[in-house]
Amino acid sequence: MSRIAHLSDLHLLEPAVAARRGTDWVRVHYLSLRRSIDYVARRARAETALRAAREHGFDHLVLTGDLTEDGVLAQYEVLADVLEASGIPAERITLVPGNHDAYGTAMPWEAALAGPLARWEKTSAAGAAAWMDDCVIVPVSSAIPQTFLRSSGRVESLALDGVGAIAAREPGRPVVVAQHHPPYAVMHQWVHGLVNHDEVTGLLHARDNVSLLHGHTHRRKERGLVAGGPLRIFSPWAVADNVAPLRMYDVAEGLLHPLPALAARPDPLAAVCRDVEAMGGVVLRDVGALGRG
Ligand SMILES: [Fe+2]
Ligand SMILES: [Fe+2]
Repeated sequence: MSRIAHLSDLHLLEPAVAARRGTDWVRVHYLSLRRSIDYVARRARAETALRAAREHGFDHLVLTGDLTEDGVLAQYEVLADVLEASGIPAERITLVPGNHDAYGTAMPWEAALAGPLARWEKTSAAGAAAWMDDCVIVPVSSAIPQTFLRSSGRVESLALDGVGAIAAREPGRPVVVAQHHPPYAVMHQWVHGLVNHDEVTGLLHARDNVSLLHGHTHRRKERGLVAGGPLRIFSPWAVADNVAPLRMYDVAEGLLHPLPALAARPDPLAAVCRDVEAMGGVVLRDVGALGRG
């Protein structure tokens, strides 16, 4: 029985983010609304989440997008550093991009996978798949270039055809799609939603061995396709907003079975904040799970 770990929405910043000027400053401040622009804090959240995944143990880790705040090279370099330092073998990690990884002057995802994220290209590129004993994990990009005033997504039909082909060829094997946007309509769908969510839902209806892990909503949730049916669609709390965002699933009897919520680990920033406040300083805390998708 394989165990899958799931993290999403790291929204990593670059070390020199405070030096931004002009439109680069406007973009990162708009996108970070309700999240403090604190490189150290964002990085610490990601490191803590990866450490928790390692401590709980898993066979494969999926990171479902918004890996960076706005996709600049220095942010991908931070992501590579954090993943490398986690000690998790690259072949056991699948990455997919989110809307935040494709804004403005963002590095194209393919270039990031050919550059700073090259170690994870084999499991994360279009057409890739991570084959495990009893399931297969397929990354599907829903990131599209767009103004940072929108956060919508679209999945290429070709990518869905690839998932469908694997699911048809391996009817007894669970196929786990990793994508950023949820495969259903959301509030303010035109601005925030997956444009062709019905195509993805159609695939899930057509192939009952396909499940889907997503991010973007920054909410822990699970859904079936029909009332009383098995759970097929899962999302976790955002790493950037939550001290215990990790989700885990066991693969059994052709489905994903989510493990109960994992206990919160001590926030490494909490002690620092207490020290700062004890000395009379003021700490601007994150607002919680209210960040932009
Ligand atoms: Fe998102
Ligand atoms: Fe997000």
